[in-house]
Amino acid sequence: MVRFLLHQLCIGLSTAIVFCTGLYYFDIGGLATLVGKSPQGEVALILLAIGLATLFAPLAVHTALARAAAEADDATALVLLPSRDSGLAHEARAILDKGAIAGFPRWLVRELRSDHAGETGAVAIYAGILAVIRDKNVVCFAESHQQTEREHLRLIESILPLAHASSLLPLWRIAGFLIGATPALFGRRAVFATIDAVESFVDQHYTAQSDRLARERRHGTVRTLLERCRQDELSHRDEARAALDASAGPVLRGWCWLVGAGSAAAVRVARLG
Ligand SMILES: [Fe+2]
Ligand SMILES: [Fe+2]
Repeated sequence: MVRFLLHQLCIGLSTAIVFCTGLYYFDIGGLATLVGKSPQGEVALILLAIGLATLFAPLAVHTALARAAAEADDATALVLLPSRDSGLAHEARAILDKGAIAGFPRWLVRELRSDHAGETGAVAIYAGILAVIRDKNVVCFAESHQQTEREHLRLIESILPLAHASSLLPLWRIAGFLIGATPALFGRRAVFATIDAVESFVDQHYTAQSDRLARERRHGTVRTLLERCRQDELSHRDEARAALDASAGPVLRGWCWLVGAGSAAAVRVARLG
């Protein structure tokens, strides 16, 4: 618990520092001018960073409560039923209806919950990009990727009833939107680098789940579905990487690190509830 709180604090501070540095560097809202005129400018900037970091406190509290509830629960397997018809989701349901899967262990439910939260965030990332970017090539790129992410979301929803979805879906939507809209403010290279970072993380995430299912030799059909999503994510990553015509500079690399670290923290939280 203490380790988790420290981790959240580190992520919060990192985000706040990068955010404030960006505001200061680009003098958004006259911040650099304001700080420059004040003898205690640096202190004010640090206080602002700490203030922003406290925004993460509610997230940490929610996580602590969810973890306590999860520990109090027993480890009984949950029976999951397909819930929706549509495109790929229908295909998933057909696979599941063959009767190979009647119940999932708790760890798999948690993983699917994190997948559902991630795909929700992915749809929002492209909404954020499309809200800002005007470059026609990037618009095409984002629209086509968003369509795939919507299909992934429907696919996960076809095997995970919404009753088991994360209770923080609004937060994942907002976070996703900001992860998409922020780099879009700085142009196409920032967008492609961000998608490369996001999809590299998602590849690792799905690979870990797929490997565990392979080791346990159970729920092969779920593994097939996750692998199918992973292949799309890899294709998204490669497309973004190819479009990024030169290596990213230090600021962009820092942003991409933050995106990866934030995604890892979000997955941990989404698994809990
Ligand atoms: Fe996806
Ligand atoms: Fe993707």
